[in-house]
Amino acid sequence: MTNEFEVTPYRVSGEIDYDVLIERFGTKRIDEAMLKRLSRYGPLHPMLRRGLVYSQRDLDWLLNEYDKGNKFSLYTGRGPSGPVHLGHLIPWAFSRYLQDTFKVKMWFQLTDDEKFMFYDHLTLDETKKWGYENALDFIALGFDPELTKIFLDTEYIKTMYPLAVRAAKKITFSTIRAVFGFDNSYNIGSIFFTSIQTVPCFLESVEQGKKIPCLIPCGIDQDPHFRITRDIAEGLGYYKPALIHSKLMPSLAGPEKMSTSGNREMAIFTIDDKKTVKRKTSNAFTGGRVSVEEQRKLGGQPEVCSVHAYFNYFFESDDAKIREMYDECRAGKILCGECKERLFEKVWNFLEVHQKKRLEAKKVLDDFFVRD
Ligand code: TRP
Repeated sequence: MTNEFEVTPYRVSGEIDYDVLIERFGTKRIDEAMLKRLSRYGPLHPMLRRGLVYSQRDLDWLLNEYDKGNKFSLYTGRGPSGPVHLGHLIPWAFSRYLQDTFKVKMWFQLTDDEKFMFYDHLTLDETKKWGYENALDFIALGFDPELTKIFLDTEYIKTMYPLAVRAAKKITFSTIRAVFGFDNSYNIGSIFFTSIQTVPCFLESVEQGKKIPCLIPCGIDQDPHFRITRDIAEGLGYYKPALIHSKLMPSLAGPEKMSTSGNREMAIFTIDDKKTVKRKTSNAFTGGRVSVEEQRKLGGQPEVCSVHAYFNYFFESDDAKIREMYDECRAGKILCGECKERLFEKVWNFLEVHQKKRLEAKKVLDDFFVRD
């Protein structure tokens, strides 16, 4: 059962067992000791408390360096293939918390090249357009313009290329095949691409002219790229990047990841209007029973319910409230209709404000973007 899922940057399928994934990938769980350590820098983010941000590489080392006065840079990114959905906001909202807590620089990569090379239906103009659209969502979360640099690969390639070729020379085709599962039918841009995703780990070091540690907050599906980076980093004269991984937000259809490319009814996009959000939350998959009587008698199943997952991931920051809703559902005291209504309210309240901030972000794009 547990082995039937797959997680790579290019394919997520099946029901993910996150404990098994830690073993497969060879990462470390964020344990009690680490939570305690993190709480010394500021209040713990709810995603840490709830185990939604749950895995890491070299985080202890990174914090040791920080404690010695050796600040790190943050790096995360987005493949601009369409509108941003709520699942994308998970590692970004967490990144914002990291920037606030540690007062560090963020590099945000928009891989317009990647999405063009991997998707037949997208032109390079389209991925670039989505890049600028998606950047608005990132900025809307409140990143500090003094400490944040956003770039599109095709517009920053002159800066990145020397690092990309030095990385590429150290990566073999057989590594790419093994790590990403590509075969000979893949275009050669796809095979080369991971060297471009490696580069931002080192941009702060290049800019400052000395080795700077890097922390990558990301969905755990992106980890394979950075395993490659970590293997070659020291040979290039840099530190291995540290990572902090989030789980992937389930879709409204149940416990499989949301996808921009999959069924658009199954994810809530940040640009959805009120009516659309209402429809999508009303149609969400829940752990409800076949009839009201059954549900009152047997109770619901919050552990498989996508509405409950949404509260847990993003829309209810009060831990006690989450537990209460879970227990009430279990006891058959609340029905799915009530939860869906409550979720709609929460999502729409968030989106209404977010959409305003997105529009305001248009005016400050140039404070964030860097180009060659
Ligand atoms: N490849 C990622 C995607 O398809 C985008 C990305 C680039 C990224 N650099 C990153 C994601 C660093 C996380 C961290 O979405």
